[in-house]
Order: sequence, then structure tokens, then C-alpha cells
Amino acid sequence: MPPLVRPPAPTNTGVDDRVSEPLAFPTETLVAEQEIGPTGRPMPVFHDPKPVTEHGPARVISMCNQKGGVGKTTTTINLGASLAEFGRKVLLVDFDPQGSLSVGLGLNPHEMDLTIYNLLMQRDVELDEVVVPSGTPGMDLLPSNIDLAAAEVQLVHEVAREQTLQRVLKPALAKYDVILIDCQPSLGLLTVNALTASDGVIIPLECEYFALRGVALLKNTIDKVKERLNPDLVVEGILGTMFDGRTLHSREVMERLVQAWGDKVFHTVIRRTVKFSDATVAGEPITSYAATSTGADHYRQLAREVAERCLDA
Ligand SMILES: Nc1ncnc2c1ncn2[C@@H]1O[C@H](COP(=O)(O)OP(=O)(O)O)[C@@H](O)[C@H]1O
Ligand SMILES: [Mg+2]
Repeated sequence: MPPLVRPPAPTNTGVDDRVSEPLAFPTETLVAEQEIGPTGRPMPVFHDPKPVTEHGPARVISMCNQKGGVGKTTTTINLGASLAEFGRKVLLVDFDPQGSLSVGLGLNPHEMDLTIYNLLMQRDVELDEVVVPSGTPGMDLLPSNIDLAAAEVQLVHEVAREQTLQRVLKPALAKYDVILIDCQPSLGLLTVNALTASDGVIIPLECEYFALRGVALLKNTIDKVKERLNPDLVVEGILGTMFDGRTLHSREVMERLVQAWGDKVFHTVIRRTVKFSDATVAGEPITSYAATSTGADHYRQLAREVAERCLDA
């Protein structure tokens, strides 16, 4: 239970001080003091997103950080699954030749007929032929495997090479509410394609000191894409991952992040738990693998915050 505090008694500031009106609300009203969240700021209450009756047009959001192992893929899967739980139609795009997103959803990289590589490089392949169900109701997947590594090389010779992903995703915009792109850990042509195809970027960041340094470089790339290819691109937010509330270190990193990025830092923070690797091995989102775990709750909370900040705003 949060401590209870009394709100300040209202002072009568009426123009006519001869009339002593009864106070607008009883002084006995008690309000809960706002809790301080893991980012060191008061934690707002995020409500479940409004149910939707029609789908689309989709908001396209890239998970981007040139560093590996910061939670891009985990966030793509679990933010997607949480938004799907709230009734949104979600398309996940595996845009990393490692194919971790596809594997994390139970697909075998050697058994894929068509992948995003075919969609990018072959004019006669349509989006619907490549999209597969993800196993979570309301969420689909554009899979990828190591073939995508070749696309990065081949795209260099294409006309409008930075806009290729944007072009192939166009038919999906009307069908989905959210498209989440899981980027590879680099700032190369594939990532530039993802940023060009996106309305916004979410930057997952491990709560470690050295993690802060890479953000400036990423911001530089985002600014270049904004300037030259996609003027409307916005940073939706920075997400602290692998947070350990027991260590001063994690809390200090969050504090520094808020100093540098202010309100861009999501109030929601994802704590470190082994349940995430277990869920990956099981090939499903944590929201179904361990539906009542704190990890699942954190991603549902992130979905509420993302919906409020970027989808329903
Ligand atoms: N909050 C977390 N707590 C503990 N382990 C995590 C967490 N988020 C991700 N992991 C694990 O860390 C590893 C890297 O995460 P991943 O999402 O694949 O990062 P990226 O896509 O940025 O390379 C994976 O093994 C994943 O299961
Ligand atoms: Mg990844």
C-alpha cells in the first residue's frame, strides 16, 4: 500500500468574500501519493489501450541499436504479443540475417520457403506469400534467415536502395495496426532501410554504463535518415532493459539516461530475468510462455505506454 497523504485544503479565492460557499470537495478526501518508478520519476498510471473495431493504417516502429544483446528481438516479440493481447493486429518483421526473431517464434531457419529476402529481391513475390502466422493470435511474422545477409550486398546496386523495405511493406499498412521491425545490430544499409520505412524508433538499451555511449552514434544515423530520406521519423522512446533494481549501477544508468533524454525515456523498464531465455528456447513470447511472470507484466505495461504515447495519441 502506498502511503496516504492529505491533499492541500482548498483556499477560498472567490471574488465575493462575503459569501462563504461550502468547499468544492470534502477535505477528508485522501489521495495516494504517486509512486517513484525505476527511472526515478513519478510513475504515471497507464490504462489498457482502447479496443479497436477496424484495423490500420499501421504505425511502423523499428527496434534499433547497433549493439547486440540489448533486447531488440525480445522487445519486438513481447511488445508485439502484448499489443496483440490488447486486440491490435501486429506484423513483426525479422530484419536481421541472424533470424533470431523467427527462431524465437519457433520457426526453423532451414525450413522456410520464402523469407523477407525474396520479398526484397524478387519483384514477382508478394507480401502475402511470405507472411506466416506467429503462433500468437493477431500477430503475424515476415521471417528471415541468413539469406538476408546477401540482400545487404545486392541492394547496393538497386535504384532507391534505401526505400526497398518501405516499398515492400506498403501493402501491409492497411491490414495491421502496428508493424514492428527487429533490426540487425549494425547501422548498415538494412538498418537504414528499416529507419526509412518507419514512423518511429524504439531504442532498447541495456542498463550498463558503456551502453550510453553508443546512443550518440545511433542518434547521428537517425538524424541523417531524417534529413535525407524520412523527415517524419521520430524517436518514440528509449527503453531500459535488463534492469536490476537492487544495484545502484542500474539506477544510476537510468538517472543518466533521463538527464540526457528526458521524457523520451519510457517510464516502463524491463527487469533482468532468466525467463526470457527460457521463453526463447520454447519458441514463444513470455506473455504466453510465462503469462503471469513479471517479465510478461513489464511488456504489457510497455504496450500500454507505447499505445498511449505513439498509437492512440
Ligand atoms: N530483460 C531481460 N532479462 C534477462 N535476459 C534478457 C532480457 N532481455 C533479453 N534477454 C536475453 O538476452 C539475450 C539478448 O537479447 P536479444 O533480445 O536477443 O537482444 P538483441 O536482439 O538486441 O541482440 C537473449 O538471450 C535474451 O533471451
Ligand atoms: Mg536481435
